[in-house]
Amino acid sequence: MDWGLKNRLSRIIRPDGRTVMLAVDHGYFLGPTTGLEDAKKTIKPLLPYADALMPTRGILRTSVDTATDTPIVLRVSGGNSILGELSDEGLTVAMDDAVRLNVSAVAISIYVGAPNQKQTLLNLAKLIDEGERYGIPVLAVTAVGKDMVRDARYLSLCCRMAAEIGAHIVKTYYCEGFEKLVKSCPVPLVMAGGKKLPELDALELTYNAIKRGAAGVDMGRNIFQSDNPAAMIQAVNAVVHDNFTPKKAYELYADLKAAKKKKK
Ligand code: 5RP
Repeated sequence: MDWGLKNRLSRIIRPDGRTVMLAVDHGYFLGPTTGLEDAKKTIKPLLPYADALMPTRGILRTSVDTATDTPIVLRVSGGNSILGELSDEGLTVAMDDAVRLNVSAVAISIYVGAPNQKQTLLNLAKLIDEGERYGIPVLAVTAVGKDMVRDARYLSLCCRMAAEIGAHIVKTYYCEGFEKLVKSCPVPLVMAGGKKLPELDALELTYNAIKRGAAGVDMGRNIFQSDNPAAMIQAVNAVVHDNFTPKKAYELYADLKAAKKKKK
């Protein structure tokens, strides 16, 4: 691994070995997702609390301040939509444009066991070859097709395959037996948040993932769809970086939320 690639990785994964990535790339196949209709307004107050931001190219250009210091993990796969076959993805951004956009990493989904498994795995391999050429790390997202079960057996297969192809970070879902999954993945693993849960449940999920070896989270809806997104991302940070218990982190969330109400 060359110096540039390692340097970019170290901007995303903090010196404590952990990271809170804020995912705002949902629109690439879901359109205007709840909470991201006005992406600029959503992202601005959360950016100071994110170790990295994961947008698409369009959202980066239109909705993120060019003066930001927050490392960008750019979503570069797409071509699918909720109206079609989800696994039918290709690459949507050329590596030289990712470099021009000064991103710290690129992100791509793989769909193991889905109709276009091979295409998405070869997309990953191509992206890693290009990333290595420019010193840009690649984050592989283990997307789960409609017919797959999110269990340890399946997710371990996906994570290990992504790492074997050469991904520098892998993003996957929490599951029963997560500890074993983390141990069999030789690169840092971050947990995707998934559908919106009550805040305490999302903090518990985060706590369990960290306790079982995750390097952090790459979370979207459980932050930006929260009653108070800024309070929620600070509570998630407290679990990831300061080892807060879910209860203590929820208290922090509630205090920050109450303080904001009082200010109004
Ligand atoms: C889709 C993605 C999204 O970034 C991801 O699902 C993260 O967001 P959320 O926490 O809302 O699930 O990678 O494949």
